[in-house]
Amino acid sequence: MIPESFIQELLARIDIVDVIERYLPLKKAGANYVACCPFHSEKTPSFSVSPSKQFYHCFGCGAHGSAIGFVMEYSGLGFIEAVEDLAGQIGLQVPQQRPDERRQKAIEAAPLTEFMACAAKYYKEQLKTSPKAIDYLKGRGLTGEIAARFGLGYAPEGWQSLAAVFPDYPNKALVDCGLVIEGDSGKRYDRFRDRIMFPILDARGNVIGFGGRVIGQGEPKYLNSPETPLFEKGRELYGLLQARVAIRDEDCVIVVEGYMDVVALAQHGVGNAVATLGTATTPTHVHKLLRQADRVIFCFDGDNAGRKAAARALEASLEQVADDKTVAFLFLPPEDDPDSYVRAHGADAFRKLARQAMPLTDFLMQELKAGKDLATAEGRSQLVHAAKPLLGRLQAPLLRLQLVKLLAQASGFSQAEIESLCGLPAVVRKAPARSPRGAPSPIARKLLRLIVQQPGLAARLSSDLVPDGHAETEALDALITAVTEGGLAGEGFGMVLEHFRGTTHEGLISEILGELVEQEFDEESIEAVFADTVERLRQADIRSEIDALNAKNKSVGLAPEEVRRLQQLLTQKQAVKPATPA
Ligand code: UTP
Ligand code: MN
Repeated sequence: MIPESFIQELLARIDIVDVIERYLPLKKAGANYVACCPFHSEKTPSFSVSPSKQFYHCFGCGAHGSAIGFVMEYSGLGFIEAVEDLAGQIGLQVPQQRPDERRQKAIEAAPLTEFMACAAKYYKEQLKTSPKAIDYLKGRGLTGEIAARFGLGYAPEGWQSLAAVFPDYPNKALVDCGLVIEGDSGKRYDRFRDRIMFPILDARGNVIGFGGRVIGQGEPKYLNSPETPLFEKGRELYGLLQARVAIRDEDCVIVVEGYMDVVALAQHGVGNAVATLGTATTPTHVHKLLRQADRVIFCFDGDNAGRKAAARALEASLEQVADDKTVAFLFLPPEDDPDSYVRAHGADAFRKLARQAMPLTDFLMQELKAGKDLATAEGRSQLVHAAKPLLGRLQAPLLRLQLVKLLAQASGFSQAEIESLCGLPAVVRKAPARSPRGAPSPIARKLLRLIVQQPGLAARLSSDLVPDGHAETEALDALITAVTEGGLAGEGFGMVLEHFRGTTHEGLISEILGELVEQEFDEESIEAVFADTVERLRQADIRSEIDALNAKNKSVGLAPEEVRRLQQLLTQKQAVKPATPA
């Protein structure tokens, strides 16, 4: 955990306009800045950045948030990474909770990142001067534009070509970042020679590794960077940075096996594809992907190896998939891979196939049933036996229940038997206990909006007046505390949102901020609106106490002081009327 005070300090020191301008061209429009929204496709700008609120909001798709939120959304970085990125921009040191490991990694990685960037630039330049490499890429149907988009390059023949860019060729860092290999005799030479180079980028756009394809025939067909302090294969996905906008637009990401598949799909207009890097899909991969889209489609070759890869991806997905997410599997005809398929049949045909991908549960059942004779008692028992470890890992309760039903049908056991045989709780577990959630409270919602717009008002609202039991009133309570006890350093919306990140109130506060950006209270009338709203809250409070006393009167009768209280309340109720009609 990074301390909240640090987050607030960071947000106070950076300017959201500078942050977003690093990624998007912003145009001044009145007090704000505008751009075409990077989170949905549009022709006229409805994405607005407010320097005074330190907040961005898209009037088209409703995306909004702080500078930190923007970097997370735009780059697909996690919260801590985004904070580190921003802090780094202004030379602020993030207080470290797990001090050594993370920082050590960053220190080790920094010079290597430089080396990788220089190498990528060099390979790109070499591509321009190599007719052989250019012809190869053209022969595979790629245009210069796509080659540039993916930063493709060419590593020339020769054992020490990189010495041209790195005069200090013996530098050990070149070995550490995987560009140079040290042979047994201690002699050093370039890892990649006479290959088409595919740079692998991290979410920030740094080159962290390469894949190098032999031109034409040869072994190995692809040579990859080794694992280095920069490059951990089980975490990274090829093409994710380039695919980000398309993934967001379609709310779907397609995972393929090869570098060329990603590039060829992009060439044909299917921009939302990424590839695992010659390794099996890991839960980390799936987690990353599901953070960016609700639908993940694994697309594997139709051969045996593809089927195996799909089974691994299935396992990696079990713990990650949620009931509101879809993971599906697409198998191409055995003779095809996505590259050859899209080249032969076009993007529409490919998209059509993708839409018909097999849902996770179907694929899982198919895998479980494979090789078992369900006509026999043994086969049906084996089915349940095989399902047990997988079911236990599936975290989505509804999906799991569906699977239990399918298994019951296929095995002849009852649902309850399957649940107990597989060690599952007999009933679907309820969602984790949330804060009590009564009916929505429009009054409290309005007060939330008023206080966010003018935090000074919080001091004038007693939290006893705020009834329990509504999501809004609980958020209101938390907001009053944050404002009056100084948890919030400033008044920017970005700061307010970050204060509530990770709390139960985050969603509601985020909604409120979005509403406020679209429609603020009038500065002149805000005082009157506040007074009126508080008065209505007081009236509601009085009414509910009256109702409670009346009810008690009917059932067990009232004590003398309770009768007095009721009379008092009834006068109070008549005495004040809301200043404006309800
Ligand atoms: P494929 O053998 O399916 O190749 O490997 P491909 O992607 O269709 O490549 P092209 O179309 O012939 O150029 C799929 C992925 O497996 C990894 C690479 O990541 C490759 O993209 N691979 C394959 C290797 O790492 N090394 C190899 O020698 C072969
Ligand atoms: Mn291929």
